[in-house]
Amino acid sequence: MQPINIGLMGVGTVGGGTATVLKRNAEEISRRAGREIRLFMAANRDLERAREVVGPDVPVVDDAMQIVNHPDVDIVVELIGGDTIAKELVLKAIENGKHVVTANKKLLAVHGNEIFARAQEKGVMVAFEAAVAGGIPIIKALREGLSANRIEWIAGIINGTSNFILTEMRDKGSSFADVLAEAQRLGYAEADPTFDIEGHDAGHKLTIMASIAFGIPMQFDKCYLEGISQLDGRDIKYAEELGYRVKLLGLTRRTDAGIELRVHPTLIPEDRLIANVNGVMNAVMAKGDAIGPTLYYGAGAGALPTASAVVADIVDVARLLTADPEHRVPHLAFQPDRLQDTPILPI
Ligand code: HSE
Repeated sequence: MQPINIGLMGVGTVGGGTATVLKRNAEEISRRAGREIRLFMAANRDLERAREVVGPDVPVVDDAMQIVNHPDVDIVVELIGGDTIAKELVLKAIENGKHVVTANKKLLAVHGNEIFARAQEKGVMVAFEAAVAGGIPIIKALREGLSANRIEWIAGIINGTSNFILTEMRDKGSSFADVLAEAQRLGYAEADPTFDIEGHDAGHKLTIMASIAFGIPMQFDKCYLEGISQLDGRDIKYAEELGYRVKLLGLTRRTDAGIELRVHPTLIPEDRLIANVNGVMNAVMAKGDAIGPTLYYGAGAGALPTASAVVADIVDVARLLTADPEHRVPHLAFQPDRLQDTPILPI
C-alpha cells in the first residue's frame, strides 16, 4: 500500500509539534490510519529551523505553493495561521483536489463558509480539530459523540493564554504584562496576542463550535467580544473575596430570538468545576437535550497538545482515504495479530 504523503506548511510551534508527534509515534499512527503516514515535504520561511525539526530526510522549501501544487502530496497540513497567505494556499489546495488539515481558527471562523463550499464542490475533506481548544477532541465530541442531541448551549474556557494570565495573576500576583510575555515564550499566544487578550481567538473558536452544534454558517461578525485586557489584579482579588473566580468564557446558546454568541470575562462561583480549570488548560461544557450537560477538559494550547489534534485529523482523513476493505482500520484500530506485542499482565 502506498503511504499517505503529508505536506506540512508552517514549522512554527504547532508545526514543529506535529513533526515531532508524527515521528515519535509513527508506528501507532500508521497502525491506526491503516497505512503509513509519511511526512513528505515541509514549507517554512525559516528553512534552517524547519530542517532542524523535520530532519535530513524530508525536503524543505520556502514556498508553500510548492506543496499545494505537488502531485504526490495527499494531505496538506496548514499551520501557518492568519487569513491571507493561508487562505490562498488552502483554496488552491482544495482546487487541486487535496485534503486539508488546519489548526487555523481565524481562517475558518471568517472564511469557513467559502472554504467548506469549495471543499464540498471538489469532494475533499477539510479537517480542523486543532482549531478549537487545542488537544481536546471537542469537534469530534460535538459532531459525532453528541450527534443524537439537540444542543442547547455550549460554554467554555477556550483561550489558553487568557486562562494562563488570569491564573498566574491570581496565584502569584504576577503582572498582566509579565504573564503575557511568559505565555508568548511558552508558545501559547497568537502571533498577535491581542487576539488572545481581546477575546477574538475565543470568538473564532466559539463561532466554529456554534456552527457545528446548531448547523448554522460561520458568523464571527455577529459574536460579542470582550477580552481580559481591562482587568487588573484588584478585580481578581475582589472576586476571590466574594467567592468567585474570573474566567474568560465563550458562550453560545439557542434562545427563542436566535443563537447567542458571546465572549467575555465571567464571575464563576469557586466551587464549580469550570472555575478550577487553571493555567493553559481549556474546558468546554456542552448541553444536549438527551445526554444533559457534558464536560471536556485538556490542554488548550502549546506545541504537542495542539499537534495531538492535528495528527488525529491526519489519521481520520487517512482512514477515509483507505477505502480498500482489506486495509480499512476499524475505529478501535484493533489488530488481532498484534496482541502478543503487549501482553496483559497476570492479576
Ligand atoms: N492562542 C491560543 C490560545 C492558541 O491561547 O488558546 C490555541 O488556539
